[in-house]
Amino acid sequence: MDFSQRVFCGEVKTDDAGRDILLAGWVDAYRDHGGLLFIHLRDRSGIIQIVFSPDVAGENFCRQAAALRAEFCIAVQGEVRRRLSGTENPNIETGEIEIFVKKLNVLGESDPLPFAISDKAMVAGSASAGEDNVAEDLRLQYRYLDIRRPVMQNNLLLRHRIFLTVREFLSSRGFVEVETPCLTMSTPEGARDYLVPSRVHEQKFYALPQSPQLFKQLLMIGGMERYFQLARCFRDEDLRPNRQPEFTQLDIEASFIDEEFLYDLIEDLTCRMFSIGGITLKRPFARMTYREAMDTTGSDRPDLRFGLRFVEVTDLFSQTKYAIFRQILQRGGCIKGINIKGQSEKLSKNVLQNEYAKEIAPSFGAKGMTWMRAEEGRLESNIVQFFSEAELNGLKKRFNVEDGDVLIMVADPSYQIVVSALGQLRLHLANRLGLISAGSFYPVWVTEFPLFEATDEGGVTSSHHPFTAPDRVDFDPKNVEDLLQLRSRAYDLVVNGEELGGGSIRINNRDLQRKIFAALGLTEEETKEKFGFFLRAFDFGAPPHGGLALGMDRTVSMILQTSSIREVIAFPKNRSAACPLTGAPSSVKREQLAELGLLNPGGENTLPGDAHQENLLDRISWVSRIGATAEERKTLEQALVQADKLAILARENAGLDDPLCTVTPVANRMREGAKEKRSIFAEKGQLLKSAPAVKGSYFKVNAVLE
Ligand code: AMO
Repeated sequence: MDFSQRVFCGEVKTDDAGRDILLAGWVDAYRDHGGLLFIHLRDRSGIIQIVFSPDVAGENFCRQAAALRAEFCIAVQGEVRRRLSGTENPNIETGEIEIFVKKLNVLGESDPLPFAISDKAMVAGSASAGEDNVAEDLRLQYRYLDIRRPVMQNNLLLRHRIFLTVREFLSSRGFVEVETPCLTMSTPEGARDYLVPSRVHEQKFYALPQSPQLFKQLLMIGGMERYFQLARCFRDEDLRPNRQPEFTQLDIEASFIDEEFLYDLIEDLTCRMFSIGGITLKRPFARMTYREAMDTTGSDRPDLRFGLRFVEVTDLFSQTKYAIFRQILQRGGCIKGINIKGQSEKLSKNVLQNEYAKEIAPSFGAKGMTWMRAEEGRLESNIVQFFSEAELNGLKKRFNVEDGDVLIMVADPSYQIVVSALGQLRLHLANRLGLISAGSFYPVWVTEFPLFEATDEGGVTSSHHPFTAPDRVDFDPKNVEDLLQLRSRAYDLVVNGEELGGGSIRINNRDLQRKIFAALGLTEEETKEKFGFFLRAFDFGAPPHGGLALGMDRTVSMILQTSSIREVIAFPKNRSAACPLTGAPSSVKREQLAELGLLNPGGENTLPGDAHQENLLDRISWVSRIGATAEERKTLEQALVQADKLAILARENAGLDDPLCTVTPVANRMREGAKEKRSIFAEKGQLLKSAPAVKGSYFKVNAVLE
């Protein structure tokens, strides 16, 4: 069959009726109607029904077709015909036509499947075979089959379209795509590095990039002015549903710009990307300072799809007689609350007291939760009698209370505990009360983050990364109090409570950058060792610059509204950072570790090491440096089994402790055509290290079995 003539299943039209065409794809479903065999043929473009009728296909092809099963890969040649009236299938795009097969070619048979792939109804009106509840690890183990499912194909196709949009849009704005290295130096982004040992430079390591941060800044110093990259990043960090150890960032950097340039650029781009999923975002995006976000939602990733904003009420209780509040305020604490408007019917006293106050709020870290319900112009609760009229009136006014409203309040000496617990209650209530309408998207820029966070050791660490510009430069790098007051010129793009991206205006002054490193507690030497090359670049006319990175897996997942970012990644790791398909991460042979100088890191490499833990053949072939082929391994393994038996016998008969044995006469033989190669271990004298005793340049061994 001539595949250059191939037509895609989903592209055949009713107008093609009467034409002979060639199709290729996979058997999606089949139905035998005694004599007539109907098959749904699927390729990437869609599904079409093909019919095997003995009149058209002939006995031979029909017999062959009867043996077809799900996911056989086939090619067929046949005539397009309109379906008889009443037999059309509205569930598939090509439901008005079918192909009467004249020739069949089975290109690849399939084993029975580990899970169903077809998600199309075979017969009009019948239930879809789609939605499966297959364990995710099984899907990942057979990812190539999972990818055959139309929903996965669609996810990957739309990801491709989104990436294409990014490239076209940014190119049109003068941005140039530049690749930066994957084998590189550690880039500080707050996670652990994945390290790659160097064979050439023993005991030295590359780090896989946590982001291309340093390189994109160097590209600005290099005069590229506007850079972007769909960059693979690697972070060894605690796993969460929206994190992968390896993920893709749209990394952007530009010179001679300010925050407004980036907001405008990214808003335009984000709207274009979301429109691919049929989602319209309103511009300009909302903006919120970090402080405002924490004060009103308890999160630096505020979900603004619903209200339930916090209201500060600390001042209303400055004279309170209610002991719990009084004690908390005496300890410098605060009180904040939420008015859950018009929800008193869904939040009974019982639910508020026994579920929220006793169970849910404490599980979010609050020591308690106060609630009140507004009924007939009054606030009701189990503790309302402890509050003065002035306090209750103050609450009514501050919360703008109407009948049917429910107030919840959290008080604690720690501001952090108040906002964190109330923030989690806010999300819990919004979900429980169905306040989040499906398909709504609310982007917001969060700005003015603290530049530093306090560490347990009494120092500071960067909230983002150490290249972020501070809001002022007159700080004392040794004064932690002062450092914690600094704000950064950083911004995060948050949509529906998820951080899609983040960036900042950078430091472009060498002295300021040094001051930041000093504030982080790095000594001059450490700074030089880690970032000397980077700081040096700032000696050569560094332009003002800034940028941002969008997490593309998260962005695509949000646009396609998938349950996890793994649904939009072709070959993701599972929840425990492993790949069920390839088995990665896997153990490696000791030879490989030895070659990389990793057998005994920090010390000498001793070979062969613990004999019982390794494959005997590998050990012997390593020591004798013969590198057996797969064919030769079989013979050698058999020989070794025999040798092992003999060795045990020898040990028993001769009372030897640790016999060394060989089954073949020892001779230094080279395989034909092989070039002599001197072992690096021989050069370093390490070969002798595995000998129980050495005399001159000879091994001394216990016994050799002839
Ligand atoms: P940041 O560390 O905020 O910034 O990362 C940018 C975006 O990358 C995504 N992201 C992840 N996605 C999936 N799995 C992960 N493990 C993961 N970690 C991060 C998030 C995040 O918002 N160099 C800076 C950017 C800059 O300053 O220009 C950086 O990497 O969506």
